[in-house]
Amino acid sequence: MSADVRAGVSVATGTPPRLQVLVLNGPNLNLLGTREPGHYGAATLAQVEQDCRTQGQALGFDVQCQQSNHEGVLLDAIHAAGQAHREGRLAGIVFNAGAYTHTSVALHDAIKGTGVPVIEVHISNVHAREAFRHHSYLSPVAAGLIVGLGTDGYLLALQALALRAARVSKV
Ligand code: DQA
Repeated sequence: MSADVRAGVSVATGTPPRLQVLVLNGPNLNLLGTREPGHYGAATLAQVEQDCRTQGQALGFDVQCQQSNHEGVLLDAIHAAGQAHREGRLAGIVFNAGAYTHTSVALHDAIKGTGVPVIEVHISNVHAREAFRHHSYLSPVAAGLIVGLGTDGYLLALQALALRAARVSKV
């Protein structure tokens, strides 16, 4: 392995690799585009993810997207992102945990345990909906929340992580 690669520097350009961001979506968000468009809009998950990659590029991020309907897979993704964050390779996670938001102590513990910055996103205004959507296990351990701004919320969350990363790199 070359010294440049060991030092985390691109041999081709001599510039450091871009900070990663994980855009993580939980259960049923693969149904975006057809699922309750009155709440979640018309964009498909593929379109949302493409918009995130484009926005990430403009902000200097390498955006990775993942969706799972399985809590354990989401936990593993948070653990891996936590490791990347500790190694200085990842700025944070933009996370829409779907219904697990309202049920999952395990996701709360994973975010807290890894210390990875998470911006919690909800497409719909959960506070204007059923009472069971008003409580979030993630909010107490999230770096911030964006709720009710449609799929623009993902793009705003990426901007929030960029501002946060710039602030952190100055101290
Ligand atoms: C959601 C809100 C949750 O209550 C719901 O279970 C979802 C989507 C949102 O993006 O508005 O699956 O997280």
